[in-house]
Amino acid sequence: MPAHPIAIDDLPRAVRYQNGVLHILDQRRLPAEVVMEDCQGAEPVERAIRELRVRGAPAIGIAAAWGLVVEAEHAEAVDPAHLREHISGWAARLRSARPTAVNLAWAVDRMLARLKATGGDCGAVIATLRREAQSIEDEDRVICRAIGRHGLELLTPGCGVLTHCNAGSLAVSERGTALAPLYAAGEQGLPVRIFADETRPVLQGARLTAWELDQAGLDVTLICDNMAASLMAEGAIDLVIVGTDRVTANGDVVNKIGTLGVAILARHFGIPFYVACPSSTFDAATATGSEVEIEERDEREVTHIAGIPIAPEGVKVRNPAFDVTPAELVTGIITEHGIARAPLASNLRRLLAA
Ligand code: MRU
Repeated sequence: MPAHPIAIDDLPRAVRYQNGVLHILDQRRLPAEVVMEDCQGAEPVERAIRELRVRGAPAIGIAAAWGLVVEAEHAEAVDPAHLREHISGWAARLRSARPTAVNLAWAVDRMLARLKATGGDCGAVIATLRREAQSIEDEDRVICRAIGRHGLELLTPGCGVLTHCNAGSLAVSERGTALAPLYAAGEQGLPVRIFADETRPVLQGARLTAWELDQAGLDVTLICDNMAASLMAEGAIDLVIVGTDRVTANGDVVNKIGTLGVAILARHFGIPFYVACPSSTFDAATATGSEVEIEERDEREVTHIAGIPIAPEGVKVRNPAFDVTPAELVTGIITEHGIARAPLASNLRRLLAA
């Protein structure tokens, strides 16, 4: 733990917009360096999303929304019709930068709907886009705090909580989804032992989750992915909380590769398995997880660690970035409106409608 932990709300933001520039924290370089990349158009934002410089379902939605703003601000549009067409083109590109997290498409579609509904000159169009991006980010902040409050109910003094990947401050506007209850516990002085899976291949758990929790002075222990079963067997884990990139209509949970294995282990050991997410992560239009496009990423993520080869050259590789946890393995979904429990599909619908 650092000698002087920083306040939870002082953790570096994944994205920060200021005066025509979108500053993106380059998460590929964490924890070694805290470096912000300055974006003055949609192209570097699209690249940052593809290359995981900014990642995490809500954060890529927020980044894309601001990406459209900075593109509009710096475009040389001759009239509002031209600007609208230009921004619509970039919206399509940003929307497809990563296929699995539904929040990206959700945020871009929200920006497009606002764009279509706005009249006036170029200045008016830009101001409208700026207001909508700010709303998306501000709402996310409120939602993450609400998820933290609801999830806090699940924690007891001294309990052991396992998380996978990074669904923390770095994956959202602030505080996170899965980590929000843990930050809330920290603020209330409730002791919780947090275990972070390292999360191969690109180590979001080791590089990001362990880092941000440690910066904030929380009790975090890093484990390799293949240690989770052993810790569960010895009784160290009372609860699992993970984030998600998409929840389908039947309650299936699409999240970082390895989540399914953790859920199966939790069921075996009788440990509650919770998922935390904002309502924008629900995809009611997709019936089940098997219909979701799972992003396959570059094989170098598997064959190399920090640029160093760890496998024979030319070996066959698979690299699906996400997996699907069936609804029946999920104990509950923590949303900004409360916790939905089994039967998930109907209870989620009821919770979100209310
Ligand atoms: O590939 P990533 O790092 O964008 O994947 C992120 C995850 O799978 C997170 O667990 C999920 O997005 C929830 S983020 C609040």
